[in-house]
Amino acid sequence: MDRRNFVKAGCTLAAASTLLPATLIEAAGATPQRTIAPRSFPAGFLWGSATASYQVEGASGEDGRGLSIWDTFSHTPGKVANGDTGDVADDHFHRYKEDIALMKALGVRGYRFSIAWPRIFPQGVGAPNPRGLDFYKRMLDELANAGITPFCTLFHWDLPQALEDKGGWQNRDTSKAFADYCAYAAGALKDRIPNFMTMNEMWTFVELGYGNGSHAPGRKLDSAALAATAHNVVLAHGLAVGSIRAACNQNTRVGIADNANVMVPAIETEENIRAAATAMREENARYLTVLMEGRYTENYLNKLGAAAPKFTPEEMKTIASPMDFVGLNVYNGNYVQADDSNLGYQKLSMPSSYPSMLSPWLKIVPEALYWSPRLAHQNWGVKNIYITENGCSSDDRIAADGHVYDTDRVMFLRNYLTHLQRAVSEGIPVKGYFLWSLMDNYEWADGYGKRFGITYVDFKTQKRTPKLSSEFYRYVIARNGLE
Ligand code: GCO
Repeated sequence: MDRRNFVKAGCTLAAASTLLPATLIEAAGATPQRTIAPRSFPAGFLWGSATASYQVEGASGEDGRGLSIWDTFSHTPGKVANGDTGDVADDHFHRYKEDIALMKALGVRGYRFSIAWPRIFPQGVGAPNPRGLDFYKRMLDELANAGITPFCTLFHWDLPQALEDKGGWQNRDTSKAFADYCAYAAGALKDRIPNFMTMNEMWTFVELGYGNGSHAPGRKLDSAALAATAHNVVLAHGLAVGSIRAACNQNTRVGIADNANVMVPAIETEENIRAAATAMREENARYLTVLMEGRYTENYLNKLGAAAPKFTPEEMKTIASPMDFVGLNVYNGNYVQADDSNLGYQKLSMPSSYPSMLSPWLKIVPEALYWSPRLAHQNWGVKNIYITENGCSSDDRIAADGHVYDTDRVMFLRNYLTHLQRAVSEGIPVKGYFLWSLMDNYEWADGYGKRFGITYVDFKTQKRTPKLSSEFYRYVIARNGLE
């Protein structure tokens, strides 16, 4: 099955400036920013790049790191393309100074990375591993010297294997263990990191890890067990928001990086926009919607029936713990139009000829980067939004002259950023953008065959070569806008 048969990222908005008078958009809390020059971004907009621990660090056995479920999964024959593992990856554990120099040359001011739970607690719980924490301190000090602000994801899928041996996210104890790990890690690094995200992409690690088994730990649960597992995950997020706040100080900000489904009106009529807004709630009922509203939608519970998760009012309150920002991972989208069904919308299928990038699930829907932040703001009043991932895979080759002309990735980024600029020009509070990814890395079950970086990595020599898209991104950052 394709890595994702759902769309990634973002959300749609109930009102589009092309149709609605500015007053209505203002009423929704978005104040049109007439002060932004065409194709520009607001002053102080944070341009960044993103990676994740298991995808870049390597050094899988170093300094006391414990096993993660991705070590187990990637070493299980047949699970990952070409039998690729994250044992070495980009060797970022040893080359972080070189990689931070790449960020500096780009001009990025933000770096989104993740901490590997098994480096901090090799068994998931129990005695912490100070040498694991020391790596992140070294990396963060180098980042500070480069004037780059860290955004830290505390869980980007590398669950300690010792916890999976006790049920992993199926076990409610893991939710508590996660909150304790977050408190410890955030508490120890609070003077170096102002921004924490509890988790990355709840949908992906639950639905692919415990649903269709295409990701670690490779389980295939029935709908009741899967719904209960998803509930443990959103509860873990809520518990962690509280434990991070208790362990840190008033300068610490807590949020999440979520790949909610993108619902994009096929044509921006008012009824289609309303339909997309409804679809955004319903199609994300299990994850972002319950975090925002503290309840599962009627339709979600009715659809599940007896398989619906059991929950208490206290749990729902914890799940909806207020966040300081919401990160949206935006890659593609579903087109939606209004219909006379009971939900009032239908998702339109995409013909086989619909253009995608090298990853089949990555259908090219640039307007997703407009609709995602707009709806998060208008549906739930989110005041601080970051695009925590956006990018694409491409068939990158080193040309005879030693360069990588990834013109398709430049096309992709230029078009997506054009739509993000539309959102900020209308006053939607997007405060920053993290490009996925700084460099080619371990693309999970696709291994190293799917390159998402704006820097080419020769995994035999670890040589980094900035691609044309890196030049493009440096130019966008320098201008704080598009050509
Ligand atoms: C995700 C993950 C990244 C992926 C990227 C490309 O969003 O799935 O956060 O780790 O590598 O999205 O698929």
